[in-house]
Amino acid sequence: MDHHVLIIGSGLAGMRSALAAKEAGVSCAVLSLVYPVRSHSVAAQGGINAALCNVPEGKDDTWEKHAYDTVKGSDFLADQKAVETLTKNAIPAVYELESFGVPFSRLDDGKVAQRPFGGGAFPRTCYAEDRTGHNLLHALYQQCIKEEIEFFDEWLVLELIVENGKTKGVVAMDIKSGEIKIFGAKSVIFATGGAGRIYAQSTNALINAGSGIAVAYHAGIPIKDMEFVQFHPTTLYGTNILITEGARGEGGYLKNKNGERFMERYAPKNMELAPRDIVARAIITEINKGHAFDDAYVHLDLTHLGVDKINERLPGIREIGIDFAGIDAVEAPLPVQPGQHYTMGGIDCNEKCKTFVKGVYAAGECSCVSVHGANRLGGNSLLETVVFGKIAGENAAEFSKSVAAVSDISENYKTKWEDKFAILFNGKGDKTVGEIRTNLRKLMIKKVGVYRNRKDLKSAVDEIKNLKEQFASISLTSKSREFNLELVSVTELEGMLDLALAITEGALNREESRGSHARTDFTERNDQDWLHHTIAKFSPEGPIFSKKNVDISLWEPKERRY
Ligand code: FUM
Repeated sequence: MDHHVLIIGSGLAGMRSALAAKEAGVSCAVLSLVYPVRSHSVAAQGGINAALCNVPEGKDDTWEKHAYDTVKGSDFLADQKAVETLTKNAIPAVYELESFGVPFSRLDDGKVAQRPFGGGAFPRTCYAEDRTGHNLLHALYQQCIKEEIEFFDEWLVLELIVENGKTKGVVAMDIKSGEIKIFGAKSVIFATGGAGRIYAQSTNALINAGSGIAVAYHAGIPIKDMEFVQFHPTTLYGTNILITEGARGEGGYLKNKNGERFMERYAPKNMELAPRDIVARAIITEINKGHAFDDAYVHLDLTHLGVDKINERLPGIREIGIDFAGIDAVEAPLPVQPGQHYTMGGIDCNEKCKTFVKGVYAAGECSCVSVHGANRLGGNSLLETVVFGKIAGENAAEFSKSVAAVSDISENYKTKWEDKFAILFNGKGDKTVGEIRTNLRKLMIKKVGVYRNRKDLKSAVDEIKNLKEQFASISLTSKSREFNLELVSVTELEGMLDLALAITEGALNREESRGSHARTDFTERNDQDWLHHTIAKFSPEGPIFSKKNVDISLWEPKERRY
């Protein structure tokens, strides 16, 4: 079970790092919670940003303009040199994906098609219909199979082994058998995705419980900017399935119950294509003012686009509307509301994806480099996975070559988890994982959602601490070790509670409004006091906070206008 580079997570960031490590000539393996092509990257719809200048309206685009849009979209909290790395590498990254066989949608001249997305000055989002993540993930998986990369499917990572500030590998459970094993590794890359399922009303897959972030956090690696949680403006009312921003990029309108395109009051220039934080707040404001349908949702109207365009560019959205709301978007508007979509914070790492612990790297949504700052632009997350996945794989491989093989990993790491599980199996407590998790999710969407204030945040902190106490009284109803998803859930829940506390206390501390973090009691951005990253270190009593400078070496922060 020993490898040079061990990658946790088989989404786009994980697979891209595996390919890079393999190319660097070291042995690597991927440990995944699910069968790889079921990773949440598969659900990404709208596209991946790169200044390819393929459409006439985008002919003057450059990677520098892409970088500036990203920094402005981030409300100036992104680290600017890291953003430069992201956008400069975007163009070769998309061509590489094309060469891997991604069936991008095409223009009449055969070039990769591009559509406008929120906060972008030009149409720079490359797409494969509205199933971009699906197409990227399958192409990368094929490359990994071709390169004979070893996958361990359906394993849950329990612990990162750290001794003397350096990793030796991980402890993980084979979900199928319940067996616990130690994987030795010279370097470990976390690529485990976000923590969206801490919230009710999320576009995220059920697997997105933040387990990788929590494992790193529990091992002493700081996490960064957790208070910045992205709410996607358009999720399908009822299920919160993502309705891609591409639908607005293709010309869709948002309308309230009075038939008004209300975005003209909030972002008169960009309208529906303002950045997500602004559009999500506009919808919630319309709901709060009584302008929404059933006091809960607005309409996303695509009917004027016509059946041909919808079938060509948004076939998945049409299907989702029909299957999950009984509405054909060709004939009638879709009911939409904001829903949790993306974890902007994550494992603190630098531009080389290095974390605080030697040999440990992070890439993709679980990481915080930071290229998204306080608000991510749509289309930049697929980009981040492939650009920083590659960087993580290369750097982890280099590190592995420079250190001796790991040895002497104590069996105690395993015994400790066996003992912990035995307590759960024999527990007589009266709490279930489902009950605590549901309460956590509901309270996060209610009190730590799009709009926040001191009173709600303080009470949310108390409630999370109370749920943490209740966690000690959980007992398992299912006693089997084989494929025991209740055991998986309880392990994830412990981490979810700690991450929820980091999000909420971070939001309580940050007395300003910036990007996705909108305080009704501190409505302005305050660069004087708050132009810094929030760093949280784990302690059993709760997060210990400190600050980290933001790199603003390229552009001076200024007010955002759209
Ligand atoms: O709306 C979307 O298609 C989502 C894209 C993204 O989060 O980057």
